[in-house]
Amino acid sequence: MTPPAGSLLSAEQLRKAYGPTAALDGAEFSIHPGEVVAVMGPSGSGKSTLLHCLAGIVTPDSGTITYNGHELSAMSDSQRSALRRSDFGFVFQFGQLVPELTCVENVALPLRLNGGSRKEAERAALTWMERLEVDDLRKKRPSEVSGGQGQRVAVARSLVTNPRVLFADEPTGALDSLNGERVMELLTDAARSTNAAVVLVTHEARVAAYSDREVVVRDGKSRDMERAV
Ligand SMILES: Nc1ncnc2c1ncn2[C@@H]1O[C@H](COP(=O)(O)OP(=O)(O)OP(=O)(O)O)[C@@H](O)[C@H]1O
Ligand SMILES: [Mg+2]
Repeated sequence: MTPPAGSLLSAEQLRKAYGPTAALDGAEFSIHPGEVVAVMGPSGSGKSTLLHCLAGIVTPDSGTITYNGHELSAMSDSQRSALRRSDFGFVFQFGQLVPELTCVENVALPLRLNGGSRKEAERAALTWMERLEVDDLRKKRPSEVSGGQGQRVAVARSLVTNPRVLFADEPTGALDSLNGERVMELLTDAARSTNAAVVLVTHEARVAAYSDREVVVRDGKSRDMERAV
Protein backbone atom coordinates (compact mmCIF):
# COMPACT_ATOMS: atom_id res chain seq x y z
CA MET A 1 0.00 0.00 0.00
CA THR A 2 1.16 3.52 -0.72
CA PRO A 3 0.87 6.35 1.80
CA PRO A 4 -1.56 9.20 1.02
CA ALA A 5 -0.04 11.85 -1.25
CA GLY A 6 1.73 14.65 0.58
CA SER A 7 1.76 12.91 3.95
CA LEU A 8 4.83 13.22 6.12
CA LEU A 9 4.00 10.29 8.37
CA SER A 10 1.47 7.58 7.71
CA ALA A 11 0.45 4.16 8.94
CA GLU A 12 -1.49 1.43 7.19
CA GLN A 13 -3.21 -1.56 8.75
CA LEU A 14 -1.35 -1.47 12.05
CA ARG A 15 -1.84 -4.42 14.36
CA LYS A 16 -0.30 -4.82 17.78
CA ALA A 17 -1.29 -7.38 20.40
CA TYR A 18 -0.20 -7.62 24.02
CA GLY A 19 -0.99 -11.25 24.83
CA PRO A 20 -4.71 -11.67 24.19
CA THR A 21 -5.29 -7.89 24.00
CA ALA A 22 -5.45 -6.36 20.53
CA ALA A 23 -4.17 -2.84 21.29
CA LEU A 24 -4.22 -1.98 17.56
CA ASP A 25 -6.42 -3.86 15.14
CA GLY A 26 -6.03 -2.37 11.68
CA ALA A 27 -5.39 1.28 12.62
CA GLU A 28 -4.67 3.81 9.87
CA PHE A 29 -3.14 7.25 10.22
CA SER A 30 -1.71 10.03 8.13
CA ILE A 31 -0.46 13.54 8.82
CA HIS A 32 0.86 16.36 6.63
CA PRO A 33 3.67 18.79 7.46
CA GLY A 34 2.28 21.59 9.63
CA GLU A 35 -0.92 19.71 10.43
CA VAL A 36 -2.21 19.26 13.99
CA VAL A 37 -4.15 16.00 14.32
CA ALA A 38 -5.96 15.08 17.52
CA VAL A 39 -6.14 11.36 18.29
CA MET A 40 -9.18 10.81 20.49
CA GLY A 41 -10.98 7.84 21.96
CA PRO A 42 -11.81 6.12 25.25
CA SER A 43 -9.24 4.87 27.74
CA GLY A 44 -7.60 1.67 26.55
CA SER A 45 -8.66 2.16 22.92
CA GLY A 46 -5.08 2.18 21.61
CA LYS A 47 -4.20 5.89 21.34
CA SER A 48 -0.84 5.71 23.11
CA THR A 49 0.04 2.46 21.33
CA LEU A 50 -0.64 4.17 18.00
CA LEU A 51 1.54 7.15 18.99
CA HIS A 52 4.36 4.86 20.15
CA CYS A 53 4.24 2.90 16.88
CA LEU A 54 4.23 6.08 14.78
CA ALA A 55 7.24 7.35 16.74
CA GLY A 56 9.13 4.09 16.26
CA ILE A 57 9.17 3.35 20.00
CA VAL A 58 6.95 0.27 19.71
CA THR A 59 7.18 -2.14 16.78
CA PRO A 60 3.79 -3.20 15.41
CA ASP A 61 3.14 -6.90 14.73
CA SER A 62 2.11 -6.03 11.20
CA GLY A 63 1.31 -3.06 9.00
CA THR A 64 3.53 -0.32 7.60
CA ILE A 65 4.61 3.06 8.87
CA THR A 66 6.13 5.47 6.39
CA TYR A 67 8.00 8.57 7.47
CA ASN A 68 9.25 10.97 4.83
CA GLY A 69 9.36 8.21 2.22
CA HIS A 70 11.09 5.67 4.47
CA GLU A 71 9.52 2.64 6.02
CA LEU A 72 10.22 2.58 9.77
CA SER A 73 10.21 -1.23 9.94
CA ALA A 74 13.03 -1.35 7.37
CA MET A 75 15.28 0.69 9.68
CA SER A 76 17.58 -0.71 12.35
CA ASP A 77 16.97 0.15 16.01
CA SER A 78 19.87 2.61 15.95
CA GLN A 79 18.58 4.28 12.78
CA ARG A 80 15.17 4.65 14.40
CA SER A 81 16.59 6.15 17.58
CA ALA A 82 18.74 8.55 15.54
CA LEU A 83 15.59 9.56 13.66
CA ARG A 84 13.76 10.17 16.95
CA ARG A 85 16.54 12.44 18.14
CA SER A 86 16.84 14.41 14.90
CA ASP A 87 13.26 14.63 13.60
CA PHE A 88 10.82 13.96 16.45
CA GLY A 89 9.89 15.84 19.61
CA PHE A 90 7.94 14.45 22.57
CA VAL A 91 5.71 15.85 25.31
CA PHE A 92 4.00 13.60 27.82
CA GLN A 93 1.33 14.07 30.49
CA PHE A 94 3.82 14.66 33.28
CA GLY A 95 6.56 16.79 31.75
CA GLN A 96 9.28 14.31 32.69
CA LEU A 97 11.82 17.03 33.26
CA VAL A 98 15.11 15.95 34.81
CA PRO A 99 14.80 17.03 38.46
CA GLU A 100 18.52 17.66 38.98
CA LEU A 101 18.76 20.12 36.08
CA THR A 102 17.54 23.71 35.93
CA CYS A 103 14.74 24.54 33.51
CA VAL A 104 17.11 25.99 30.91
CA GLU A 105 19.38 22.95 31.21
CA ASN A 106 16.34 20.72 30.68
CA VAL A 107 15.31 22.57 27.54
CA ALA A 108 18.90 22.56 26.25
CA LEU A 109 19.34 18.83 26.95
CA PRO A 110 18.25 17.44 23.52
CA LEU A 111 20.76 19.76 21.82
CA ARG A 112 23.50 18.80 24.28
CA LEU A 113 22.75 15.09 23.62
CA ASN A 114 23.10 15.82 19.89
CA GLY A 115 26.58 17.18 20.60
CA GLY A 116 25.86 20.92 20.79
CA SER A 117 27.99 23.20 22.98
CA ARG A 118 26.50 24.35 26.27
CA LYS A 119 26.48 28.00 25.20
CA GLU A 120 24.75 27.42 21.86
CA ALA A 121 22.30 24.93 23.35
CA GLU A 122 21.29 27.25 26.18
CA ARG A 123 20.94 30.20 23.82
CA ALA A 124 18.51 28.21 21.63
CA ALA A 125 16.78 26.94 24.78
CA LEU A 126 16.16 30.47 26.01
CA THR A 127 14.65 31.50 22.68
CA TRP A 128 12.12 28.70 23.02
CA MET A 129 11.52 29.46 26.68
CA GLU A 130 10.69 33.05 25.72
CA ARG A 131 8.18 31.83 23.17
CA LEU A 132 6.58 29.58 25.76
CA GLU A 133 6.71 32.46 28.29
CA VAL A 134 8.85 30.61 30.83
CA ASP A 135 12.23 32.30 30.31
CA ASP A 136 12.01 33.83 33.80
CA LEU A 137 12.19 30.28 35.19
CA ARG A 138 15.53 29.50 33.60
CA LYS A 139 17.44 29.00 36.87
CA LYS A 140 14.70 27.15 38.73
CA ARG A 141 14.51 23.40 39.10
CA PRO A 142 11.38 21.50 38.01
CA SER A 143 10.29 21.02 41.65
CA GLU A 144 10.16 24.82 42.03
CA VAL A 145 7.74 25.55 39.19
CA SER A 146 3.98 24.98 38.80
CA GLY A 147 2.45 22.16 36.75
CA GLY A 148 1.50 24.49 33.90
CA GLN A 149 4.92 26.14 33.89
CA GLY A 150 6.60 22.73 33.91
CA GLN A 151 4.55 21.61 30.90
CA ARG A 152 5.50 24.78 29.03
CA VAL A 153 9.16 24.04 29.80
CA ALA A 154 8.57 20.49 28.48
CA VAL A 155 7.01 21.90 25.30
CA ALA A 156 10.03 24.21 24.84
CA ARG A 157 12.31 21.18 25.26
CA SER A 158 10.30 19.19 22.69
CA LEU A 159 10.66 21.94 20.10
CA VAL A 160 14.28 23.00 20.68
CA THR A 161 15.61 20.62 18.01
CA ASN A 162 13.09 21.95 15.44
CA PRO A 163 11.41 18.56 15.06
CA ARG A 164 9.34 17.82 11.98
CA VAL A 165 6.87 15.84 14.08
CA LEU A 166 5.84 16.62 17.63
CA PHE A 167 4.24 13.73 19.52
CA ALA A 168 2.14 14.87 22.46
CA ASP A 169 0.37 12.28 24.66
CA GLU A 170 -2.15 14.01 26.93
CA PRO A 171 0.13 17.06 27.28
CA THR A 172 -2.44 18.89 29.39
CA GLY A 173 -3.83 15.85 31.20
CA ALA A 174 -2.48 16.94 34.57
CA LEU A 175 -3.46 20.64 34.25
CA ASP A 176 -6.58 22.65 35.07
CA SER A 177 -8.53 23.94 32.09
CA LEU A 178 -7.07 27.48 32.12
CA ASN A 179 -3.46 26.25 32.21
CA GLY A 180 -4.27 23.49 29.74
CA GLU A 181 -5.63 25.93 27.20
CA ARG A 182 -2.63 28.21 27.52
CA VAL A 183 -0.26 25.29 26.99
CA MET A 184 -2.26 24.19 23.92
CA GLU A 185 -2.33 27.71 22.52
CA LEU A 186 1.44 28.11 22.87
CA LEU A 187 2.18 24.56 21.71
CA THR A 188 0.10 24.82 18.53
CA ASP A 189 1.31 28.38 17.73
CA ALA A 190 4.92 27.28 18.11
CA ALA A 191 4.44 24.12 16.06
CA ARG A 192 2.61 25.97 13.29
CA SER A 193 5.35 28.61 13.13
CA THR A 194 7.93 25.88 12.38
CA ASN A 195 5.61 23.79 10.16
CA ALA A 196 5.96 20.83 12.53
CA ALA A 197 3.24 18.19 12.34
CA VAL A 198 1.63 17.49 15.72
CA VAL A 199 0.19 14.12 16.75
CA LEU A 200 -1.88 15.11 19.76
CA VAL A 201 -3.38 12.34 21.89
CA THR A 202 -6.19 13.58 24.10
CA HIS A 203 -9.58 12.52 25.37
CA GLU A 204 -10.69 16.10 25.96
CA ALA A 205 -12.77 17.88 23.31
CA ARG A 206 -11.49 21.29 24.42
CA VAL A 207 -7.91 20.18 23.78
CA ALA A 208 -8.85 18.58 20.45
CA ALA A 209 -10.41 21.91 19.46
CA TYR A 210 -6.86 23.19 18.86
CA SER A 211 -6.35 20.61 16.10
CA ASP A 212 -7.02 20.82 12.37
CA ARG A 213 -8.50 17.34 12.24
CA GLU A 214 -9.63 14.61 14.61
CA VAL A 215 -9.05 10.89 14.37
CA VAL A 216 -11.02 8.61 16.68
CA VAL A 217 -9.56 5.32 17.91
CA ARG A 218 -11.96 2.64 19.17
CA ASP A 219 -10.96 -0.94 19.95
CA GLY A 220 -7.67 -0.44 18.13
CA LYS A 221 -9.31 0.82 14.95
CA SER A 222 -9.11 4.44 13.81
CA ARG A 223 -11.34 6.59 11.66
CA ASP A 224 -11.41 10.21 10.61
CA MET A 225 -14.07 12.28 12.25
CA GLU A 226 -15.62 15.31 10.60
CA ARG A 227 -15.26 18.24 12.96
CA ALA A 228 -18.69 19.02 14.37
CA VAL A 229 -19.06 22.80 14.30
N1 LIG B 1 2.99 -2.56 27.46
C1 LIG B 1 1.77 -3.12 27.49
N2 LIG B 1 1.60 -4.37 27.97
C2 LIG B 1 0.39 -4.97 28.00
N3 LIG B 1 -0.75 -4.36 27.57
C3 LIG B 1 -0.65 -3.11 27.09
C4 LIG B 1 0.61 -2.41 27.03
N4 LIG B 1 0.40 -1.18 26.51
C5 LIG B 1 -0.92 -1.11 26.26
N5 LIG B 1 -1.56 -2.26 26.60
C6 LIG B 1 -3.00 -2.54 26.44
O1 LIG B 1 -3.36 -2.17 25.13
C7 LIG B 1 -4.62 -1.49 25.11
C8 LIG B 1 -4.41 -0.09 24.51
O2 LIG B 1 -3.61 0.68 25.42
P1 LIG B 1 -3.21 2.21 25.17
O3 LIG B 1 -2.25 2.57 26.22
O4 LIG B 1 -2.78 2.35 23.76
O5 LIG B 1 -4.61 2.93 25.38
P2 LIG B 1 -4.97 4.49 25.42
O6 LIG B 1 -6.02 4.70 24.41
O7 LIG B 1 -3.73 5.29 25.31
O8 LIG B 1 -5.60 4.62 26.88
P3 LIG B 1 -5.54 5.88 27.94
O9 LIG B 1 -6.53 6.90 27.43
O10 LIG B 1 -6.01 5.25 29.20
O11 LIG B 1 -4.14 6.36 27.99
C9 LIG B 1 -5.12 -1.50 26.54
O12 LIG B 1 -5.99 -2.58 26.70
C10 LIG B 1 -3.85 -1.69 27.36
O13 LIG B 1 -4.14 -2.33 28.56
MG1 LIG C 1 -2.72 6.57 26.63
